[in-house]
Amino acid sequence: MSNSIYNKLLKKEAKLAVVGLGYVGLPIALEFAKKISVIGFDVNEERVEMMQNNIDPSKELESEDFKNSDIQFTADMDELKKAQFFVMAVPTPIDDANLPNLAPLLGATETVAKALKKGDYVVFESTVYPGCTEEDCIPILEKVSGLKFQEDFMVGYSPERINPGDKVHTLQSVVKIVSGCCDESLENIAKTYELVVDAGVHRAASIKVAEAAKIIENTQRDVNISLINELSIIFNKLGINTFDVLEAAGTKWNFLNFSPGLVGGHCIGVDPYYLTHKAQQAGYHSKVITSGRYVNDSMGFYIGKQTVKKILAKGKNIQDSRVLVMGVTFKEDVSDIRNTKVINIVNELKSFQVKVDLVDPHASSEDMKNQYGVSLRESAGSGYDAVIVAVNHAEYTSLTESDFEKMMKDDKGVFVDVKGIFRNKIERLEYWSL
Ligand SMILES: NC(=O)c1ccc[n+]([C@@H]2O[C@H](COP(=O)([O-])OP(=O)(O)OC[C@H]3O[C@@H](n4cnc5c(N)ncnc54)[C@H](O)[C@@H]3O)[C@@H](O)[C@H]2O)c1
Repeated sequence: MSNSIYNKLLKKEAKLAVVGLGYVGLPIALEFAKKISVIGFDVNEERVEMMQNNIDPSKELESEDFKNSDIQFTADMDELKKAQFFVMAVPTPIDDANLPNLAPLLGATETVAKALKKGDYVVFESTVYPGCTEEDCIPILEKVSGLKFQEDFMVGYSPERINPGDKVHTLQSVVKIVSGCCDESLENIAKTYELVVDAGVHRAASIKVAEAAKIIENTQRDVNISLINELSIIFNKLGINTFDVLEAAGTKWNFLNFSPGLVGGHCIGVDPYYLTHKAQQAGYHSKVITSGRYVNDSMGFYIGKQTVKKILAKGKNIQDSRVLVMGVTFKEDVSDIRNTKVINIVNELKSFQVKVDLVDPHASSEDMKNQYGVSLRESAGSGYDAVIVAVNHAEYTSLTESDFEKMMKDDKGVFVDVKGIFRNKIERLEYWSL
């Protein structure tokens, strides 16, 4: 082991490169850079320049976090040739038909293949379906580099459990799954990650097992949330508050703690499609997972429609009504608007000719305009027929009923509390939550 890649990294005789410096890649690159020598590579030159100036383009890290790290940020592919251990953290999105879009992953794999040398390691972190590393990525590494897998280079897979906005479950504090293509590679990969993960690593039985473990973590959440979303639709028809029911049922020791809501973002609402795609290829048409996806993807439209019904029930003309939507990000306390389902609420309201204003203390108006064609207001206006608190940002939790009353046009205001954070606190406005 003395001449192992791990020891070389430790003695700074070899460099580790992180390819793709987003929510996942940058934190891991900086953490490694406190212990070993790191190259941070990204195709986006603008982002690289920001990171060279100690700015995290994903707005998760502070400039302090860049200090005391041995890292070189670059968009120059030639620089990658100086590395011997590659960590891949590029996006794995879905396309318009909800099918895996492997273009960024395969593109980055090709880039690394051009820099690959004998004895090198490549560890994939991007979330994929079981088999993707071995069936889709390794053939590219072999073809482009001309090297032989396992004889000349080793491959592993180590999924990411980072949770944006969460300061408790961090890279260091959560056990990380690692896998390799043989015992020796597994040991090297495990020891390398142990340098940065204080909670330790779990050595998975194989690369496919590690891929599958990651994909089911998010699929399980998605399906569980969809059940609660479906229950909230049923309870709404029965005139029962879902959060009251969950609070009561939650007193049982084995009742699972999930709440209704919008399932957006680039993980929970996306990863199940990677699994159902692979299942389909294997000849199995997944029913439970796709049903869950259907329910969760419908929730934004459902909330929009319920808001319209409540406004109509107040005797108002829907085409003259104005609605304020508070919070547009895919979850609380982050600036990330990728795959936000709040836009479905907005589009549903607009389909009824409702005029919609949007505010968010974290999201960028420019990004909203570019991605969804809608801008944000600087701050909430007034004269609304309904206010929807769509995201439970910390900034919103301290607001009171009189704050919302001031935003309303008249005393027939409808207040929609998607996450149920104002339950039992609204007495005068017409209250509705999932
Ligand atoms: N964000 C999360 O919370 C999270 C959690 C667990 C797993 N994941 C998974 O991790 C992976 C990365 O996600 P992310 O949220 O960090 O993505 P991201 O969009 O924040 O960042 C990806 C980065 O990769 C860069 N990039 C794209 N194509 C590239 C290429 N060919 N070569 C080099 N760089 C390239 C982009 O410029 C960007 O900086 C995905 O598979 C995702 O599913 C994400």
